[in-house]
Amino acid sequence: MCGIVGYVGPREALPLLMNGLRRLEYRGYDSAGVAVQQNGALEVMRAEGKLDNLATIVATHPTQGHTGIGHTRWATHGRPNEQNAHPHVDCGGVTAVIHNGIIENFESLKAPLLARGHRFTSETDTEVAVHLLEEELEKRQSLEDAALAVLPRLEGAAALAFISVRDPGKIVAARISNAGGVIVGYGNGENFLASDAPALLEHTRRVSFLDHGEIAVVTQDAVSFRKLTGERIDKKIEEISWDPIAAAKSGYKHFLLKEIHEQPRAISDTLLGRVERSTGRVVFDDNVKMDDAFVRAIPRISFVACGTASYAGLVGKYLIERLARIPCDVEIASEYRYREPVVSPGQLVVSVTQSGETVDTLAAMEEAKRQGARLLTFVNVVGSQASRVADDVVYLHAGPEISVASTKAYAAMLVDLYLFAIYLAQRRGVIDPERSRKLLAEAFHLPTLVDAVLQEEPKVKALAYRYYSAHNFLFLGRGVNYPTALEGALKLKELSYIHAEGTASGEMKHGTNALINEELPVVAIALRDSVYKKIRSNMEEVRARAGVLIALANDDDDEINGKADDIIRIPRTEELLSPVLAVVPLQLLAYHIADRRGNDVDQPRNLAKAVTVE
Ligand code: AGP
Repeated sequence: MCGIVGYVGPREALPLLMNGLRRLEYRGYDSAGVAVQQNGALEVMRAEGKLDNLATIVATHPTQGHTGIGHTRWATHGRPNEQNAHPHVDCGGVTAVIHNGIIENFESLKAPLLARGHRFTSETDTEVAVHLLEEELEKRQSLEDAALAVLPRLEGAAALAFISVRDPGKIVAARISNAGGVIVGYGNGENFLASDAPALLEHTRRVSFLDHGEIAVVTQDAVSFRKLTGERIDKKIEEISWDPIAAAKSGYKHFLLKEIHEQPRAISDTLLGRVERSTGRVVFDDNVKMDDAFVRAIPRISFVACGTASYAGLVGKYLIERLARIPCDVEIASEYRYREPVVSPGQLVVSVTQSGETVDTLAAMEEAKRQGARLLTFVNVVGSQASRVADDVVYLHAGPEISVASTKAYAAMLVDLYLFAIYLAQRRGVIDPERSRKLLAEAFHLPTLVDAVLQEEPKVKALAYRYYSAHNFLFLGRGVNYPTALEGALKLKELSYIHAEGTASGEMKHGTNALINEELPVVAIALRDSVYKKIRSNMEEVRARAGVLIALANDDDDEINGKADDIIRIPRTEELLSPVLAVVPLQLLAYHIADRRGNDVDQPRNLAKAVTVE
């Protein structure tokens, strides 16, 4: 939810911290701040709002120092103002903390601190941590020993980093529960800290990931790790393969537009190496270890995910039930965790997540694991918490997704789930080789077909400019494209702030029809598939009630001519793959409407990329 960065080394810390925060601004942009050790004192600068506001302050306050931390905030406790911006400092202004997550017991910790005379300057839950640390630093020599005395008293979910002029040249970072990642980056004679890889990529690709209940002690020359119990531990150094250039905008106006246009490449990367040429079998690499007996006996698959990823799960249900004949259900992760779900023996629980850090998804995974389910995750971010909690991992290979709204990761999720459905069907022996060969051949055409859909952008943009001032939108889908309607509505809501609803078109007559009038644009996904006739009837019902119809149709469909006010065309593909194509014009529509309305497309209001709080 929030972004944290840190630097210890011979270079000036401030520009490095600001640069790192730029890469993490998608995680939160309510306020930002930095703390740098300068000549035995702590220099703290903070600003409400976007990072540019902090940059203005930094530009007029030259600060020199080689150890520092920085934070970009998505507000949970306390309004998004300067006073509540991180870093927070102790009473003496010599120790600072940054934090991502929520300290749930902060009120019970704060009362005795106030009684002992500590002065609080913010409304945040975070500030208790630095005052507790202040007390411990009176008794202990090192920052890490003081942190180890404080951290077990914090309840909830948190990733924190501390610096103090009492123990200079050092950052202590901690991860408690599943709140946000903490990654240590190893440089040459310098070391880094960040919540997420894009902040590190231009400096290093050699990293270690903190797990729940661990701290890192980071100095210029060394990094060491301990458990919250104090026990010293060794951590693996891992290599991040992401290309830093891929994480920059490459000439596009927004990251979102770039990521929409990267979908053909993301899909190719997702497909790469997943089909064994000699046998035509789908193979997932070493990270999926389910044996034949397990796969043949899976009684049920439950998907857990949030937002866009949950719609990918819905498509996954259609695919797996259709091809592998395994019953599936899809649950919003935030509901699953509190519902006392029933997990049957041998059940597979599949999480789908771009970031791998969504706290509700992680909690649902934990609950499923606690009940004995086998956990498989489809995840984009390598080394994320989901990838480490799951028994089996499928990496999406979509590359870094920076824009808050998910696009290319969704495409990769759909393609991987399609492959997974075929994989299960093959391993359970319920699909004939010719059918799976055809299905796979269609998948390999996808990058070209998505490219063709992207060529239609000028038409979609013109449409966006026609409808950008609408107050409401309705998206209708059916069958495997019902989730596409949900995703089209979510994209439009989060980017344009226009109220939108996605509906199964067969449900219209049960209530939603009442909304239809000449001011409501209705986008109907009417592809030449097994439910074409049905959705065409639903379109007629909209027309009969004077609704404004925008149809998403196949480019070889002449029957639909004249049956809608506007028609967006996409190429025809295998029905089970059609959601990958159908979503692209809806992403472009949402993007161009939002841009036309002057919205901040990459950082929509009130949202964050990785939602690491409940
Ligand atoms: C997508 O556009 C959204 N911003 C959001 O719904 C997102 O898909 C959701 O928060 C889940 O994130 P995850 O894939 O990182 O778990």
